[in-house]
Amino acid sequence: MATIRIRNTNERIEGNERVGDFLGSLGVLYEHWDIEKLPDRLREKCQLSAEEQAEILSVFEPEIQSLAERRGYVKWDMVTLSEATPNLEELLKKFEQVHTHTEDEVRAIAAGNGIFIIKGPEEIGYFDVELTAGDVISVPENTPHFFTLREDKQVVAIRLFIDPAGWVAHPFADPAFQK
Ligand SMILES: [Fe+2]
Repeated sequence: MATIRIRNTNERIEGNERVGDFLGSLGVLYEHWDIEKLPDRLREKCQLSAEEQAEILSVFEPEIQSLAERRGYVKWDMVTLSEATPNLEELLKKFEQVHTHTEDEVRAIAAGNGIFIIKGPEEIGYFDVELTAGDVISVPENTPHFFTLREDKQVVAIRLFIDPAGWVAHPFADPAFQK
């Protein structure tokens, strides 16, 4: 279940419906997939073999196809991050830079946790979207944001792309942003 934290006010928004309404009002897609479709042995597991990754993608094939048909994605894959990831700390430092993309950035969380920090309109400012398994988000194109992990430092996420070239980030220098 996703939770929003607005950084300027520390206000929290909880519950899938309220989170969906808040994000929807800002043009951010939010959905929730039924994580119980995954067999127990794959739930909350973040170190996965290639076969296990393929199995998760196949379990969520209908949800992926539905998103792809609605929104024009042509390619998808899976990323896993955990203590087993070489250079995890360096990777996180790279991720934690505000940037934009020329297409929307979709992530469906299959296990673990992740946080998108997104720049909202002037009156809201930056807000965190804390995501858990089953949460699906799409940050709109040209919207400044970055992704990071929670304290557990592990996540499994399905990514979908419109451009077959995949993930391309453009740095966004923002003096207004403070960590
Ligand atoms: Fe991004």
